[in-house]
Amino acid sequence: MKKLYLIPFVLLAAVLFLIGCEGKQGPAGQDAATVCTDCHNDDTEIWAIVAQYDNSVHKNGGNFERNTPPCSRCHTSEGFIAYWETGDPGTPEQPSAIGCFTCHAPHTNYNFDRRYTDPVVLDYLGGTFDAGDGNLCAMCHQIRVPDPELPTSGNITLTSSRWGGHHGPQSSLLSGNGLYEFAGSNYDTNHFHYTANADGCPTCHMAAPFGAQAGGHTWNMTYIYHSAEEEMVTGCETANCHDGGSFPGFSYGDVQDMVTAKLDTLSQLLISANILNPANGLLNASTSAPLTITVDEAGSYLNYQLIEEDRSEGVHNPDYILNALDASIAYMTGR
Ligand code: HEC
Ligand code: HEC
Ligand code: HEC
Ligand code: HEC
Ligand code: HEC
Repeated sequence: MKKLYLIPFVLLAAVLFLIGCEGKQGPAGQDAATVCTDCHNDDTEIWAIVAQYDNSVHKNGGNFERNTPPCSRCHTSEGFIAYWETGDPGTPEQPSAIGCFTCHAPHTNYNFDRRYTDPVVLDYLGGTFDAGDGNLCAMCHQIRVPDPELPTSGNITLTSSRWGGHHGPQSSLLSGNGLYEFAGSNYDTNHFHYTANADGCPTCHMAAPFGAQAGGHTWNMTYIYHSAEEEMVTGCETANCHDGGSFPGFSYGDVQDMVTAKLDTLSQLLISANILNPANGLLNASTSAPLTITVDEAGSYLNYQLIEEDRSEGVHNPDYILNALDASIAYMTGR
């Protein structure tokens, strides 16, 4: 961390500045030097957190050059803050990746409180996500409104292979929102992973870290140990959840196995119907070859895409996800 070597000099400069200028005050009426050393000191907690963050997709995903609206809202630190402060993410000229200052405001508040904590009204269909520290995650990890939106009945004509809910639908699915419902279907939306999990996402993704590989500020759920990939189950074993210390793994109750098998069945049905393109895994639609399908067919595709891109293979909301897969498979088989 080259930057941290600079800090003593900056601190010294700050102190000299404060001593030199008669009448200058430390931030928020406190002594600036003491305030700075609350965090910039020999305690290694922040150092360890920075090392975890350095190993995260938030830092290394490489998509923060998507700095124009609407993308900048979720892909850049500056656009995120601008969007939630003013409603307009703008085009940050010098974009930076999601980092400490996105989720905390340590140089404004002089602590690590979360920058935003309010429940989030989801863009697509307007449900509310409310899970403590997880609300911050839901501000970005939610379904984007498909354009065009699904009509209530009849047909829809699609002209883009990228039509759908975009890549990060996790908070919508966790809270039982956004999957397409067929007439007469009745999905079980409420799962313990949301309803009995006060902090939502961080409980599982930010559990006590395994080095700088998983948990904590890596947000990763797996790590490499003796050359093999291991699942990080410390979050699962949280008190009043799967406690006891011998949790078998992510496919508990065969959830991930069932979801991947059903996703595969649904993808075959969508391929046979010429809706899903097997060559690229995208919708079979373009401006030169528009796709006109029924709303239920489009809903089946949307369920496939959202569950695939959620990437928890059912863990985020097992019954809701399995119910939607079963209904989509039944519709595509019987139509
Ligand atoms: C609540 C904790 C906290 C306090 C208090 C704090 N800082 Fe920081 N500071 C941070 C964190 C976290 C970073 C980012 C660490 C990283 O990414 O390497 C940082 C980074 C910096 C940097 C490197 C440049 C940058 O913005 O990344 C400077 C310079 C700095 N702080 C100066 C100060 C000064 C001067 C004070 C007192 C006025 C202060 N800090 C008080 C947490 C704090
Ligand atoms: C400012 C928007 C934003 C916030 C807030 C945010 N994320 Fe992300 N997250 C993203 C984006 C964008 C990516 C992909 C980054 C890339 O590809 O450059 C991502 C990536 C991830 C990944 C890695 C996915 C992979 O490819 O392995 C995980 C896990 C994750 N986020 C979890 C969380 C959790 C948990 C929270 C809340 C503590 C959170 N995120 C908060 C936008 C956000
Ligand atoms: C509402 C928030 C949000 C908006 C707006 C948004 N994204 Fe994303 N995007 C995400 C999240 C969250 C992820 C990471 C999902 C994951 O890893 O599961 C992501 C991932 C991506 C990825 C990586 C996909 C992959 O498979 O690695 C690309 C590329 C991307 N977005 C492009 C864009 C573009 C281009 C725009 C603007 C047209 C945009 N995004 C707008 C939230 C958003
Ligand atoms: C994507 C959002 C996000 C980013 C980026 C992020 N944090 Fe955090 N941070 C959180 C959340 C959420 C928690 C609470 C974790 C929990 O509930 O277990 C937290 C907790 C902390 C804590 C513990 C304080 C407390 O109140 O429990 C510290 C210290 C901290 N973060 C420092 C950092 C530093 C340093 C960075 C940059 C290297 C950083 N964070 C980047 C979301 C983030
Ligand atoms: C009950 C625990 C749990 C909760 C709560 C949870 N996740 Fe996950 N998440 C998982 C598991 C387990 C996986 C799958 C990991 C695997 O199979 O490799 C996963 C996968 C993901 C992925 C794909 C990348 C990866 O790490 O595999 C992202 C992104 C993600 N979750 C984000 C979120 C967000 C955002 C929230 C809150 C809205 C959330 N998760 C809530 C357990 C959880």
